[in-house]
Amino acid sequence: MASEQLRSYRIAVIPGDNVGKEVIPEALKALRAATRRTGPALEFTPFPWGADHYLATGEVMAPDGLVRLAGFDAILLGALGDPARVPDHVISWGLMQQLRKQFDLYINLRPIRQLPGVRSPLATLTGLDLVVVRENSEGEYAGVGGRLHAGTPHEVALQTSVFTRHGTERVMRYAFELARSRGKQRKVTSVTKSNAMNYSMVFWDQIFQEVAREYPDIQTEKYHVDAMSMYLIQRPATFDVIVASNLFGDILSDEAAAIHGGIGLAAGANLNPERRFPSMFEPIHGSAPDIAGRRQANPVAAVLAACLMMEHVGEADTAGLLRAAVEEVLAAGEVCTPDLGGTATTVAMGDAIAAAVERLG
Ligand code: IPM
Ligand code: MG
Repeated sequence: MASEQLRSYRIAVIPGDNVGKEVIPEALKALRAATRRTGPALEFTPFPWGADHYLATGEVMAPDGLVRLAGFDAILLGALGDPARVPDHVISWGLMQQLRKQFDLYINLRPIRQLPGVRSPLATLTGLDLVVVRENSEGEYAGVGGRLHAGTPHEVALQTSVFTRHGTERVMRYAFELARSRGKQRKVTSVTKSNAMNYSMVFWDQIFQEVAREYPDIQTEKYHVDAMSMYLIQRPATFDVIVASNLFGDILSDEAAAIHGGIGLAAGANLNPERRFPSMFEPIHGSAPDIAGRRQANPVAAVLAACLMMEHVGEADTAGLLRAAVEEVLAAGEVCTPDLGGTATTVAMGDAIAAAVERLG
């Protein structure tokens, strides 16, 4: 097993703000327990970036932050934002959008699979297993625009969407490849709004059609985002891979997470599929300042983010063990945080997951 001992990964850890700082230690606890069983060595390097750093230095992350992060195998992020002290867009553009754009993390992958023992707000939910493939580098969040005549009666704000052929083709292609490799319904659903957005979304539809021709074995469908937000509630299990623009994917992935039991359970991967830069893994929930400090945050999403990270670096056994441990704890239903109807603290739930890892490993 000598070769196994050589597997080691350098992980940059950015706990961030509020509940980010509470859930990340639980993810690390589960990861440590899992890798003790499965072999790989993980070296965690913390970066204390976010609102506190901004208030102390005027920068959300260090000026050489991207250079420092570039050498890591992956980045694990908690959650960012502390709106009472720093405007959200300052934090988001100072770190998250920087990483997504500069590291070309153009896929935001958000798998939503029904978990055992978790109650959905939909009484009849069964068989939900979908992935939102959200374009993560341009579109409505390209950051192009400006404000003009500030403070005057003819003040103007422009926020321009940017859809490039390169950016649109690659996200579509990723979605089709994923539908093929998942081998489930073998279907890609494209989310559009081409009836109203007569340039960008007509273009989006056109590229979807073009790329679909390369994948005759994959079924396709497309819905306008308003209808899609309804179908996701009415028949969520009929979806397999959903491909959406930055804005639509952002909204629909929160909706899908809520349907499967809450955003405290859903993780996302910000991927550079070519691996030219480290990819970033995070719970999809925010920093939840309303519950921060109360030890109530659910650590499952952070543990599942770690699970996606291990899958990405090629440690499927570790990922499988983490996932199995989460499922065991949720299925037992004895230790659960308030969002799941229980009274357990973040740490108690993290302990239960780590104990399950040790039992199952
Ligand atoms: C997400 C978040 C971010 C986004 C915010 C914090 C800017 O909502 O990752 O989904 O919309 O990209
Ligand atoms: Mg979001």
